[in-house]
Amino acid sequence: MIVRVCMGSSCHLKGSAKVVDKLRELQKELPFKLYGALCFGRCTEGICVEVNGKVYTGVNSENVVEIVRKECGE
Ligand code: FES
Repeated sequence: MIVRVCMGSSCHLKGSAKVVDKLRELQKELPFKLYGALCFGRCTEGICVEVNGKVYTGVNSENVVEIVRKECGE
């Protein structure tokens, strides 16, 4: 599984670094690859995170774990 977090300035200002921290923690439990991505072009809806090719909007450090777990089939 591949998770890509938007590193664009809008998502960065909304706290994408905290989302990355949370995902790094989760990687200790779940095997997935974590990458940074360029702006998804949906800045007003950020933070944007792509999981298995599907772009999620409105992601934050609280809901990201649930999103990734769901995509993992948990
Ligand atoms: S900065 Fe994240 S979608 Fe544009």
